[in-house]
Amino acid sequence: MMVCEYKPGLEGIPAAQSSISYVDGQKGILEYRGIRIEELAEKSTFLETAYLLIWGELPSKQELEAFEHEVLHHRRIKYRIRDMMKCFPESGHPMDALQASAAALGLFYSLRDLHNPAYIRDSVVRLIATIPTMVAAFQLMRKGNDPVRPRDDLGYSANFLYMLNEQEPDPLMARIFDICLILQVEHTMNASTFSARVTASTLTDPYAVVASAVGTLGGPLHGGANEEVIQMLDKIGSVENVRPYIEDCLQRKSKIMGFGHRVYKVKDPRAIILQNLAEQLFEKFGYDKSYDIAQEMERVVEEKLAGKGIYPNVDFYSGLVYRKMGIPTDLFTPIFAIARVAGWLAHWKEQLAENRIFRPTQVYNGYHEVPYLPIDQR
Ligand code: SDX
Repeated sequence: MMVCEYKPGLEGIPAAQSSISYVDGQKGILEYRGIRIEELAEKSTFLETAYLLIWGELPSKQELEAFEHEVLHHRRIKYRIRDMMKCFPESGHPMDALQASAAALGLFYSLRDLHNPAYIRDSVVRLIATIPTMVAAFQLMRKGNDPVRPRDDLGYSANFLYMLNEQEPDPLMARIFDICLILQVEHTMNASTFSARVTASTLTDPYAVVASAVGTLGGPLHGGANEEVIQMLDKIGSVENVRPYIEDCLQRKSKIMGFGHRVYKVKDPRAIILQNLAEQLFEKFGYDKSYDIAQEMERVVEEKLAGKGIYPNVDFYSGLVYRKMGIPTDLFTPIFAIARVAGWLAHWKEQLAENRIFRPTQVYNGYHEVPYLPIDQR
C-alpha cells in the first residue's frame, strides 16, 4: 500500500471524488453542479438549489413543486423533541441544541434503509424541513415562550423568519435570507462536509450524519466565525481602532475572524455577494456603522496580508446581513447549518453511491516496547 506524505489538516489531499460543487481558489470561482454561484444567487431559490445539489440537476416545474410541497408539509417537529428542548438550559449554545435535536430526530425513524430511494428522499425532506423549525423553537423557548407553528402560506425562508420573530418578514428580507442560504449551502470538502462523509461511510443513519456535521460546523475556525466577526466588529467599535486592532492580532499571531481560507487566495465570491446584500438592507432599513469598520478592516488586512492571500471569506459580511434582520448573533451559525444541511445530504447520498469506509493511516511518532511500571515505581 502506497503511503502519502503526512499533511496536517489533510491540506491539498483529495478525500473523495465528487461532482457536487467546485471551487477555484485562485480565480474566486464557486459552482454548484457546474452552475456559477452568482447565477444561482440571482435566479434560483434555496429549495431549488438544494434539489440541484442533492439530485444532480435543476428540477422541472413539477419536480420543484412536489419537493416544495413535501418540505412544506414536514416542517413541524415531534412534540417529544419540543419537550426535550424545554429541558435545555437557556444559556446553552443554539448549535448544541441543534445537534442534540437533529440526532434525536433519528429516534423516530430507526428503520434504516439506505438502498431505498424513497427512504433517502424522506430523510432529505424531513431534515431540510425540520432543521429551521428546531432553530426557531429553541430561540423562542430559551426566551421563555412557546414556539410558534410553521405557517403553510409562507415560503421556506419567510416561514423561518416568521417562526423566529413571530411576525411576517419584509419580502426583501425574506428574499435576501433565501439568497444567504444559497450562498452557504455547499462548499466542496470543508471540515463539516468531510465529517458528514466520514460518518456516512460507516452506513449509519442520515440523522447521525447531520448531527456529526453540525458539531463540526460549530467551531470558530469554521462555521462559528460569523458570530465571532460581529463580536470583533463591536469590540473594535470605531474605524480609528481598526488598524491598532489588526496590528495587535498580527503581533500576537492570532487569526482575524472572517478572513483567510484554505482554498480561496482571493476574496471569497460569496463575500462579494453578501456585501451587496448588506448594502441593499442598509439602504432600505437603515445603516449599521459596523459596515464602515468592516470596510476599513478589509482595506487594512489587504494592505498587510494580501501577500499571503488573506481576504474576506463568507463569514465576514454574513453577520452584518443577519444583524440587520434582527437575528441574534449566536443564531448565525445555526443559520449556516440550516443552509449546509442540504450540502451535507448531497454528500451523504454521493458517498452511499460508491462507498468505502474512511480509514486513513497515520505517521506513528510514539515509542515501542515500553515496559509497564508498577505504580509504586512511577
Ligand atoms: C469557513 O473550508 C471551507 O470551505 C469552509 C467554508 C465553507 O463554506 O464551508 O468556506 C466556511 O469555514 C470559512 C472560514 C471561517 N473561519 C474564519 O474566518 C477564521 C479565521 N480564518 C483562519 O482561521 C484561517 O484562515 C482558516 C482556518 C480559514 C484557514 O486556515 P489555513 O488554510 O489552515 O491557513 P493557515 O492557518 O495555515 O495560515 C496560513 C498563513 C499563516 O501565516 P504564517 O504562519 O504562514 O506566517 O496565513 C495566516 C496564518 O497565520 N492566516 C491568517 C489568517 N488566516 C490565515 N492570519 C491572520 N488572520 C487570519 N484569519
